Amino acid sequence: NKGKYEHYMQKEIHEQPESVTTTMRGRLIRGGSSKAKTVLLGGLKYHLKTIRRSRRIVFIGCGTSCNAALAARSIVEELSGIPVTMEIASDLVDRQGPIYREDTAVFVSQLGGTADTLLALEYALENGALCVGITNTVGSEIARRTHCGVHINAGCEIGVASTKAYTSQIIVMAMLALAIGGDTLSNQARREVIIDGLVDLPCKVKEVLKLDNEIKDLAKLLIAEQSLLVFGRGYNYATALEGALKVKEVALMHSEGILAGEMKHGPLALVDANLPIAVIATRDACFSKQQSVIQQLNARKGRLIVMCTKGDAASVSVGGSCRVIEVPQVEDCLQPVVNVVPLQLLAYHLTVLRGHNVDQPRNLAKSVTTQ
Ligand code: UD1
Ligand code: M6R
Repeated sequence: NKGKYEHYMQKEIHEQPESVTTTMRGRLIRGGSSKAKTVLLGGLKYHLKTIRRSRRIVFIGCGTSCNAALAARSIVEELSGIPVTMEIASDLVDRQGPIYREDTAVFVSQLGGTADTLLALEYALENGALCVGITNTVGSEIARRTHCGVHINAGCEIGVASTKAYTSQIIVMAMLALAIGGDTLSNQARREVIIDGLVDLPCKVKEVLKLDNEIKDLAKLLIAEQSLLVFGRGYNYATALEGALKVKEVALMHSEGILAGEMKHGPLALVDANLPIAVIATRDACFSKQQSVIQQLNARKGRLIVMCTKGDAASVSVGGSCRVIEVPQVEDCLQPVVNVVPLQLLAYHLTVLRGHNVDQPRNLAKSVTTQ
């Protein structure tokens, strides 16, 4: 039932203040002022000790689920102190890459039945790793075959393009980072601001959704374009990849997410006065580097769309043709949850304006059960 919405993708984008709330429900414990705030992931209760002892955490998934893991990678590394590596499921299986008994392999899958991810799971089980699932579907094959895991509880997602599952997956992995990090004293202040940030997140997502009309106007400007580049770095490299995947998948427009740090190593050659380029430049430790990327793209007459933190328009805007999208600020590691929303909306509006099928893009299936 689409309710007041025209498409499931639209409904699922707008549902995110509620879906992220259900993802966190019962899992954030906020004590009184003297009590530490903690995270409780019931599904990991008996396995946290083993995870903490592991030599490496390997995130494994496909498509959007892989992007969600990438978005959470650095907070998991920071709070757990354990190295985190990323594997695209098919590539791990193709390479028969190293997976050891001392590894924790985390399988991220919205539906929990993706063939590539299941093959990678089989492979990791054979190699003796502890296998943890992060899925939206209770009773799915990945939920059943992993040793333990966490359901993201985002509610059923019908649009082929994954939207609300992405934001809930990131939240679960941020909670996973908090849970693995435990109550080490050195991380306590950081942990508390992240938990406060999680509690505030539904409001911030609601706020960013108010950009809907503004993004629709932006989509009108891009309707006839053939390509869109999206530059991100740090926590928001994944946002760039995910935004580009959405645009490609539903709007049937070529789009590429680019690590801004790689700009001079190739992509800069593409920049001219015609190609639209979105740059994610919200406040975090990489902000000044992104400001310099904007300057350099502008010096080559790039057609820029800059996403920045509310109030920063003047510090990122580079004159006339530059469009600015201002988003609310949240704790740095949670910012990808907010920042992806305007890109989801952009992909949605572009698709409608270009007259393509929103919920069932050509050639794609919601559940990829074959290799
Ligand atoms: C569970 C209940 C929830 C209830 C809550 C109350 C289920 C599905 N969830 O939620 O309804 O409100 O207790 O305390 O009954 N698992 C995997 N692999 C996965 C995902 C999950 O093995 O990919 C396992 C977990 O290790 C756990 C079980 O499935 O044993 C349920 O996981 P989850 O729903 O995340 O647990 P709770 O949040 O505790
Ligand atoms: O159900 P899964 O999360 O395992 O699906 C993985 C990908 O097939 C999926 O995320 C795909 O990339 C989406 N259509 C993206 O919107």
